Amino acid sequence: TRTQVGIVGGGPAGLMLAHLLDLAGISTVVVDDRTRHEIYTTVRAGILEHDTVRLLVDSGASRRVLTEGYEHEGIELAFGGGRHRIDFAELVGASAWLYPQTEVFADLADARERAGGDVRWGVRGTEVLDTTSDAPRIRFTAADGSAQEVVCDHLVGADGSRSQCRRSIPEEARVQTGKEYPFAWFGILCDAPPSAPELVYSHSPLGFALVSQRTESVQRMYFQCDPDEDASAYSDDRIWSEMAARLAPNGVEVVQGPITSKAVLRFRSFVHEPMRHGRMLLAGDAAHTVPPTGAKGLNLALADVRLLAELLERAVKKGDDDALEEYTGRALARVWKAQHFSYWMTTMLHALPGATPFDVRRQEAELASLVSSRAGRTFLAEGYTGWPERAAR
Ligand code: DHB
Repeated sequence: TRTQVGIVGGGPAGLMLAHLLDLAGISTVVVDDRTRHEIYTTVRAGILEHDTVRLLVDSGASRRVLTEGYEHEGIELAFGGGRHRIDFAELVGASAWLYPQTEVFADLADARERAGGDVRWGVRGTEVLDTTSDAPRIRFTAADGSAQEVVCDHLVGADGSRSQCRRSIPEEARVQTGKEYPFAWFGILCDAPPSAPELVYSHSPLGFALVSQRTESVQRMYFQCDPDEDASAYSDDRIWSEMAARLAPNGVEVVQGPITSKAVLRFRSFVHEPMRHGRMLLAGDAAHTVPPTGAKGLNLALADVRLLAELLERAVKKGDDDALEEYTGRALARVWKAQHFSYWMTTMLHALPGATPFDVRRQEAELASLVSSRAGRTFLAEGYTGWPERAAR
C-alpha cells in the first residue's frame, strides 16, 4: 500500500491527525496493534480544555461533546480544613469540559469509518523502516495474518508512551528527560450520583484525592497510593475509608455506590527531543507524558496533531520541506508549559512519603497563597482551561 502519511497508533492522536489530513485532501493509513474494542474499554481521563473542545467541534469530529459532555466553569481545591472554588469563567472567560477520552476516541473512530478511512486495528509485529529516507515504511502482520507494508511520504508515531517509533530512533539522535514520582493513583469508577457540582482536588496530610465524574449516575474518583499497591487487594469498604480519610477533614463528603472498576495508575513526567527524526514525526504520549493531575495528556496530544496537520499540509501540498523543521520547537513550547503545570499540580497536592509537618504546612501555605490571590487563581485557571494556541508559543 502507498499513502501520503502513514500513522502508527490509532488512539485519539493518530485518529485526529488522520481526520484533519483527510479534510485537507491528504491520504493516510493508520495501524494499531490493539483492537478498537480494547482501546475503547481502557479507562482514561475525562477533562478537555476549551480549545480541545473547539477542535473536536469545528473539525466535525464530534458534536456529541457538546450534548453529552458537561461544561465546568471551575474546580474546587480542598485543603487545610476547607474548600475553595477557582472560578474559570470569571477569571479567564473559559471553561473545561468533562467528556471521557474513551468517548473522544469513539467519535474519532466513527468519523474515520464514515469517511471510509483506512484504519487497520489489531495488527501484530509493527516495525518502522527507512525513517530518514524519502519513503519510510510501516511493516506489520494484519489481523487476518497477511504480511503488509505501507510505504509513505511521511510517517507519524502516535503510538503511546511505549512507542515503537520513538525506540527506532538511534540513541545519539535523541535526548530524553523525565521524572519519577514515589506515589501513584488508585482509580475507581462507581455507580452513584455526583458528590459535588464540580471536580474537587484535595490535599491532606494523608495524601491527595480527586473527586471527578462521568455522568449523572457514574462517578470517577482517585486517591493517592503507593505505586506497588495491588488494586484487587482493596475491598470496597477499604477504598471508601481511604477516600474519606483524605476528604472528610476538608469538609468533602463522597456519595458511595458499588465500585465497578479498580486500578493502580503509575505515572511519570517524560519528554523526548526532538519530535522529528528524518521523515518520522512523534505526537502525543510517544514523545512526552505528564503525570495525570490536571488531565493534560490528551489535550497535549491533540494540540500536537493540530499543529502537525497544519505543517504536513504545507509539506505535502506546497512542497514546503522546511515546514516540518518548525514542528519540534513549536510543539515543545506547549509541551513544556504542560510539563510544568502537571508537575506543579502534582507536587503541590500530593504527600511525599516521609513528609515532615514542615512539608505539609508549606504545601498548605502554597495553596492558601494561591487561592487568596487573584493572580494565583488566574494562573491556575489559564493552565487548566488551556493556553490559547498563539500564547503557547
Ligand atoms: C480526571 C483525571 C484527571 O487526571 C484530572 O485531573 C481530572 C479528571 C478524570 O479521569 O475524570
